[in-house]
Amino acid sequence: MIYFITSNRHKYEEIKKAIDFEIEMLTISYPEIQAESLEEVAKYGIEYLIDKVNGDFFIEDSGLFIKALNGFPGVYSSYVFKTIGNEGILKLMEKVEDREAEFQSVIAFYDGDINIFKGICKGKISKEIKGNRGFGYDPIFIPEGSDKTFGEMEREEKNKFSHRGKAVKKFADYIKMREFY
Ligand code: IMP
Repeated sequence: MIYFITSNRHKYEEIKKAIDFEIEMLTISYPEIQAESLEEVAKYGIEYLIDKVNGDFFIEDSGLFIKALNGFPGVYSSYVFKTIGNEGILKLMEKVEDREAEFQSVIAFYDGDINIFKGICKGKISKEIKGNRGFGYDPIFIPEGSDKTFGEMEREEKNKFSHRGKAVKKFADYIKMREFY
């Protein structure tokens, strides 16, 4: 069994939909350090969890990086969402023409070694909150190749575009290769 250590059911449901091997959600809280990159945050989380989980496991760390705000909220996405939320981000972007942004997702999988799989989804920040699906910044993010926000998409459609969908695909390829050898 592969355990996904998270308290975010949305992430679990998205990932489960994109893979054909079994995973189980396990909620153990772990520290999210202040670091420059998602990779560093994820590696620290894995090291903290190694002797607390019995078996192979992974965590996923993600963030929204807005170009006109020099990458903010980035590694602080979770805190910023809890404090100013989507309304706050739209306010910061009120008179900003350049709406370019990207979501990043890092999956860190531990099977004796730490394996990192990263996915990026480029897109833009919408002018208004749209849709009530998904979670977090979904209602204000429009991925490249669509005119809908993630908040207006079903899980399967979001996965086709999303940072998490891309990271998961690399992770699934690794699992397939591991089973082959
Ligand atoms: P964390 O990986 O749980 O630290 O997530 C960081 C924050 O980014 C979360 O609180 C969410 O608000 C936001 N976030 C991460 N992934 C997504 C996504 O797929 N859609 C919308 N918001 C997301």
